Amino acid sequence: MSFLKYLFWTWPTNVAVKRFLGGNGLTTQSLLVLPGDGIGPEVVAQAERVLDWFNKNTSANIEVSRDLLGGCAIDKHGVPISNQTMIAANASDAILVGAVGGAKWDDVDFDKRPEQGLLRLRKDLSLFANFRPAMCFDALADHSTLKRHVVEGLDIVIVRELTAGLYFGEPRGVFADVDGQRRGVNTQSYTESEIARVARRAFQLARTRQGRLCSMEKSNVMEAGALWREIVTDVHAAEFTDIELSHMYADNGAMQLVRDPKQFDVILTDNMFGDILSDEAAMLTGSLGMLPSASLGTATPQGISRGLYEPVHGSAPDIAGQNKANPLATILSLSMAFRHSFGLPSQAERLDGAVDRVLKKGVKTADLLNGQDQTAATTEEMGTAVIEQLNDDLAMH
Ligand code: IPM
Ligand code: MG
Repeated sequence: MSFLKYLFWTWPTNVAVKRFLGGNGLTTQSLLVLPGDGIGPEVVAQAERVLDWFNKNTSANIEVSRDLLGGCAIDKHGVPISNQTMIAANASDAILVGAVGGAKWDDVDFDKRPEQGLLRLRKDLSLFANFRPAMCFDALADHSTLKRHVVEGLDIVIVRELTAGLYFGEPRGVFADVDGQRRGVNTQSYTESEIARVARRAFQLARTRQGRLCSMEKSNVMEAGALWREIVTDVHAAEFTDIELSHMYADNGAMQLVRDPKQFDVILTDNMFGDILSDEAAMLTGSLGMLPSASLGTATPQGISRGLYEPVHGSAPDIAGQNKANPLATILSLSMAFRHSFGLPSQAERLDGAVDRVLKKGVKTADLLNGQDQTAATTEEMGTAVIEQLNDDLAMH
C-alpha cells in the first residue's frame, strides 16, 4: 500500500480519535490554503480574513497553512502540485483552493498543466462527490439572464461524480491509426461501486433537503449510462425509498435547467455531464462569482468528510491583481468547509446569513452590478462588509 493510500485509509480513524480526545470542542483542526493563480490569491485572502474572525469570535479553532498549486507551483517546482503539497493536503481536515491556470502556462505539456494539480488532488485524495449548490440570493434575482420568476428562491445542488468517468477512464491519449492519422481517445468508464458510493452521498444529501433526487445520464445511447441508471435505481430501492427518485437524459436535463430549474432539488450526475451542467446552473444564480463547491470523500458516521473547497469560477486572468473579483464564492466555500469538514454547521449558517444580508444592503462587486448606476465594491471591501455584518449579527445576539 502506498504511503498516500495508508494516510487516506487511516484518516477517518485519526479524525475520530482527535474528536474524542478534544471532546471540549477546542480541538485544533487544519486547513490547507492553496490560493493558486490569477484572482485566486485575492479571493482567498478575504476568506482567510473571515476565517480569522471565526477563530477569534467562536469555538472554531482552525489552523491555516499555505502552499502552491497550479501555475505558481509549475514556476517553482516544475509540476502543478508537488509531492510535499500532496502530503500536506492528505494530513489536513480541509483544503481551500482559489483558482488555477492562465495564458502563461498554455504551452506546458498536457500532463503538467495547472489543471492537472487540481485533478491529482481530487483523485489521490479520493474526493469522489462534488457538491455544487446553485442558490439564487434574493438580492440577485434580477441579475440572472433568466426572468425573475424562473430563478427567484432557487435552491438546488448538483452532485457531480469527480474521480472517474471520462476524466480518468482508460485508455486515454493520442494514438496513431494504421493509416497514419492520429486519434484522440478518452473513455467513459464507471464501475458499480463508483456509481453506488456517489449515489449514496447524493441520496443522503437529499434527505437533509426536500427529499428529491434526479439522476442524469445518457442511458439511451451509452452503456455506462445504462449501468449508471441501474445502480442508482438499486441503491434507491435498497436504502433510500423515502427519497423521490427520478431519471432524466442529460440533454433533456440541460434544457429543463433553463426552462424550470426550481423543479429540481438534488441532481446526481457523472463527471463530464456534471462539469457542463454545473456551469449552466451557475448562470441561473446571476453570477459565476457566487458559486461555492465542496469535493468530499467518505464520511464518518457523524457525516464529516475531508474535503476540498473551491469557488466554481476560474482564475479570471483579465481582472487578476485589480481588487475587482467577487470573493463571495470563496467565502461561501469556507462555509461549506464549516459544514462538511469541521462539524460546525451553526457557523456555516451564520456565515451564509451574513452574505445574504450584505447583498440585501446592496454591497456589490462589479460582476453583480448589472449595468446599474452604482459604485462597485472592491474585493477587499466585500470581505470587510461580510466581517462587519458578522460583528453586527454578533452584537444583536
Ligand atoms: C471545474 C473545472 C475543472 C474541471 C478544470 C479546471 C479542471 O472546470 O471544476 O468545473 O473540468 O473539472
Ligand atoms: Mg467546470
